Amino acid sequence: MALWGGRFTQAADTRFKDFNDSLRFDYRLAEQDIIGSVAWSKALLSVNVLTQDEQQQLEAALNELKASVVADPEQILRSDAEDIHSWVEQQLIDRVGDLGKKLHTGRSRNDQVATDLKLWCRAQGEVLLDALQRLQTKMVEVAQANQTTVLPGYTHLQRAQPVTFAHWCLAYLEMFERDSSRLQDALQRLNTCPLGSGALAGTAYAIDRERLAQSLDFQRATRNSLDAVSDRDHVMELMSVASISMLHLSRLAEDLIFYNSGEAGFIELADTVTSGSSLMPQKKNPDALELIRGKTGRVYGALAGMMMTVKALPLAYNKDMQEDKEGLFDALDTWYDCLEMTALCFEGIQINGERTLEAAKQGYANATELADYLVAKGIPFREAHHIVGVAVVGAIAKGCALEELSLDELREFSSVIDEDVYGTLTIDSCLKQRCALGGVSPEQVAYAVKQAQQRLDEQD
Ligand code: ARG
Repeated sequence: MALWGGRFTQAADTRFKDFNDSLRFDYRLAEQDIIGSVAWSKALLSVNVLTQDEQQQLEAALNELKASVVADPEQILRSDAEDIHSWVEQQLIDRVGDLGKKLHTGRSRNDQVATDLKLWCRAQGEVLLDALQRLQTKMVEVAQANQTTVLPGYTHLQRAQPVTFAHWCLAYLEMFERDSSRLQDALQRLNTCPLGSGALAGTAYAIDRERLAQSLDFQRATRNSLDAVSDRDHVMELMSVASISMLHLSRLAEDLIFYNSGEAGFIELADTVTSGSSLMPQKKNPDALELIRGKTGRVYGALAGMMMTVKALPLAYNKDMQEDKEGLFDALDTWYDCLEMTALCFEGIQINGERTLEAAKQGYANATELADYLVAKGIPFREAHHIVGVAVVGAIAKGCALEELSLDELREFSSVIDEDVYGTLTIDSCLKQRCALGGVSPEQVAYAVKQAQQRLDEQD
């Protein structure tokens, strides 16, 4: 039975009903709708719309319903109710009879759905924070174990300067920490309670909305009823947090796909996160990582879709807003899956330290060291940069590395060069030199790992 039959003489066309109904996706709000309803029943008691006994009956029935929903959420999908709010109300009436019909006093589905969705966002936000934390823990663990694994660092996808695998892990850790902080920020901002805003103009019952907000663990009640029922900023904020985090995951995925390629051969992913080709028996494809990279687009799509939907919508509630849920659910589910899958990709990963070291030695990745060496001998950096550029051309012509040039050959480029130059051209020296905060020197990386571990411990 629909919630609004009285004004109508004709039943809805079944095609319209299918088009209009939201139960097939908003059934996910069942628990939140019930929790919100319990809080509302207490608010109604406080203004004497319900007696103590009635409220207790409603609360008991709602709690029973909640237990049943938690045990079997799919049961909801077997109903032809219009949406989750109608479903819960109908279930309640089935259980307590006419008393169930009192619950909607002073409430609208507009403040109800706004409240349900915020409660859901809050719960899902916590789940996502946990997933982010698990991934952060993984990154620190891999960093810890790979402080001496040299990795070529790239700019423009050209070997630039050597780094370590640990330093690379900690770069992504920084991104995931920012994602966490952005998510916490969004969760804090959405933590205001719309319930008691009615359809748009507020409720006609003198409910203490601050108390109601507190009973649902919100920080405060929303301040304006028009805004409260039509605000979906939190939906867009969460999707934008998800989008930025997916962007980070896609960059990590792309780095690993490249490291895993035949050309690089830096890592080998475990069998557990790769798949084979139906035709080429030799293939072991990085599907998990490619899917993470690919799914990033779909999360952006959900955000863009929602922005388009809300753009220029007049106040207050419009049915357009029912379109908020599917994209949000999909975006946050996808983000969660990708966080988990990224962490999984580090399980059983093999890092070929000899290959990465070999690659880091190639491509004149120590050219900056030679320039710094010349600077230490009193040559202005700009001039040193030019001299080394010429030296690199010379080494390329000879088909060798800078450190493979003889002292005489090196001296042709600058007479200040001495025997001690060779010590500065080693990988170890390249790394050690980057000793300022945030750099790749072994001391700095060890310090960064320790600090990261400490931040993780504080999160717990
Ligand atoms: N299913 C609706 C939604 O998700 C609930 C709110 C309905 N409100 C209304 N005035 N029709 O937005």
